[in-house]
Amino acid sequence: MTRAAASAPGKVILVGEHFVVEGQPAIAVAVDVRARVTAEELGGEPLVEVVSRELGRASFTGDEGRESPLYPVYVAAREVMRLAGRVGGLRVRVESDIPPAAGMGSSAAVAVATVAAVSRLLGLDLSAEEVSRIAYRAEVVVHGKPSGIDNTISTYGGAIAYRRGEGFLRLDVDFSPVRLVLADSGIPRSTGAMVAKVRSLKERYPAVLDPIYYAAGRLAVEVGKALERGDFEVVGELMNVNHGLLSAVGVSNRRLEELVHAAREAGALGAKITGAGGGGLIVALCWREDAERVAEALEQLATRVLVAPISADGVRYG
Ligand code: MEV
Repeated sequence: MTRAAASAPGKVILVGEHFVVEGQPAIAVAVDVRARVTAEELGGEPLVEVVSRELGRASFTGDEGRESPLYPVYVAAREVMRLAGRVGGLRVRVESDIPPAAGMGSSAAVAVATVAAVSRLLGLDLSAEEVSRIAYRAEVVVHGKPSGIDNTISTYGGAIAYRRGEGFLRLDVDFSPVRLVLADSGIPRSTGAMVAKVRSLKERYPAVLDPIYYAAGRLAVEVGKALERGDFEVVGELMNVNHGLLSAVGVSNRRLEELVHAAREAGALGAKITGAGGGGLIVALCWREDAERVAEALEQLATRVLVAPISADGVRYG
């Protein structure tokens, strides 16, 4: 084989971001906005060339090139090459429709698709668990010490309840009565920096923050149950509570609050920051028939609005 391709979806965290880093459960869904990767034989040179539609081109050998935004893609490819006993001679092409640095797990989706494409090219038959675990190593390069929720949902798709160190549970949810409307604040941010900011607050005020983390964990459990019985009013109400907890730990700002309140006023069942906050996206849960109205209200304030199709599939080969 001289070429192999794979794609992986982005994600929306419904509840539990940040709190999941410290071991609380969180719930995420895969959305059908994808990163696609093609891996091909380069021949001769012992290097890996990464070509990204969004970020240009770079070549890597050994441990050099850490400052490049494409380095995490190289790390994902390199980890698979090590398993296959290869040192180089590959080109990895990346095309992603997932907005970067916005809270939709674009880096994890690229890592998952890279691991899948390179493993297929090199004739390795990796399990989904291995794909997710190797992609996590590339995520560590981008985010420091991520919880693992992003690579997990991007690998498996659907809706999951995730708990760091324990793995995930698939949730059986019929999402057909609702839509997720995403609105981009247009403010870029770094997940690693936001996670560090929240951790620092928790270290300074453990007696105050510990109960907030506990509440977020209980909230995720209730949302999981409500999703499975199709009680989206409860899900929406608890998403609003979750937004309050995220504001309490310092990851909201005026723009995000405006978006969240505009979505609620336009009839969303619930609205909150999704992902690391500080910028990036908010998610609004709406009845299907209200989604258009909520999206229109958000268009006045956001740099981009999308109605996210939920993806039953995770990583796809070919
Ligand atoms: C990032 O998508 C979600 C965070 O909870 C970080 C993580 O889980 O690693 C903010």
